[in-house]
Amino acid sequence: MSTSFTIEVHTDKEDSLDSLREDVLTGLTSQPKELPPKWFYDKHGSDLFERITRLDEYYPTRREREILETRSQEIAALSQAESLVELGSGTAKKTHLLLNALEKTGQLQEFIPFDVSEKTLRESAALLNQHYPSISVHGVVGDFQHHLPFLPQSQNNSPRLIVFLGGTIGNFKPKERIAFLNQVASGMKPKDTFLLGTDLLKNKARLEAAYNDKENITAAFNKNILRVVNRELQADFAVEAFDHLARFDQKNSWIEMLLRSTRHQTVHIGALGIKVEFAANEEMRTEVSTKFTQETVKNELDETGLKLSEWWTDPADDFALSLSHLCNSTILR
Ligand code: SAH
Ligand code: AVI
Repeated sequence: MSTSFTIEVHTDKEDSLDSLREDVLTGLTSQPKELPPKWFYDKHGSDLFERITRLDEYYPTRREREILETRSQEIAALSQAESLVELGSGTAKKTHLLLNALEKTGQLQEFIPFDVSEKTLRESAALLNQHYPSISVHGVVGDFQHHLPFLPQSQNNSPRLIVFLGGTIGNFKPKERIAFLNQVASGMKPKDTFLLGTDLLKNKARLEAAYNDKENITAAFNKNILRVVNRELQADFAVEAFDHLARFDQKNSWIEMLLRSTRHQTVHIGALGIKVEFAANEEMRTEVSTKFTQETVKNELDETGLKLSEWWTDPADDFALSLSHLCNSTILR
């Protein structure tokens, strides 16, 4: 079989700017103010996230890797996948574990990473293409909100493994999560399987420490959203006049990241022609990161027509990977 390497881009600069303008206008004129986390991930933000994954306090990446190290072969055998689709793939570092196991089955033909961050996707797809010469790599640059329907469908109904790692599902609010899972399920065929990474509920101190690292890398990641808005929308956020905050909200079972204005200030958003006032100590939310239990994951999968068939955690029960399939499918039973 001859393999190929292609990148398909569904986002264009103008659409992406329109969407940023809309999010900034809505978010900065709401009370309380809020910006959506997808704007963290320009090249610098993606690099900062990569540094976060190596921090002592940030356990999710290490724990998920531990599960993949022990379960990838089982996942490969259960999925029988000929195609691996990864949503929000980022640098796809952990994906090697799955690719190695799937390659060994002799069935895997293609890898389809999907991410909104074009630079990161191009770099990771090129690396993977070099590393796995027998597998076609077809990268798709797109936004979860708009472009999931553009993912290539399976050829002749051959089994696909769709993976969403890192706990990124926790960055959606409950309604967005259900909409996202519905979209994933509606694009699945009976032989497809869905591997989902979720961070688990645990004591507040450990959760908060993971988002308040001593080296302040998470703070830099959080503040990067202001740099993105400054650059893309000709705004004048004084980045140094905002403090990073991350705290656990028990009621919603999520960590929320915020930026707190250290003084009263007025920010001009040139591209929108507006001025936005921040009171001293006013907080603006930039991310939620939901923490799950087996029950909450199972219920949400159920609600969207997916049946949980396997649940794997690391020995410390910090993080979980779940494997599911369409409710009306007979695989994995
Ligand atoms: N899966 C990797 C990366 C997680 S970081 C891991 O487990 O380490 C979250 C990734 O989701 C980033 O690469 C970011 O660019 C991507 N992302 C965030 N919002 C997105 C959106 N709306 N659409 C597509 N990708 C998005
Ligand atoms: C990508 N996502 C799962 C990370 C998280 O833990 O919610 C993003 C992050 N935010 C701060 N640190 C890491």
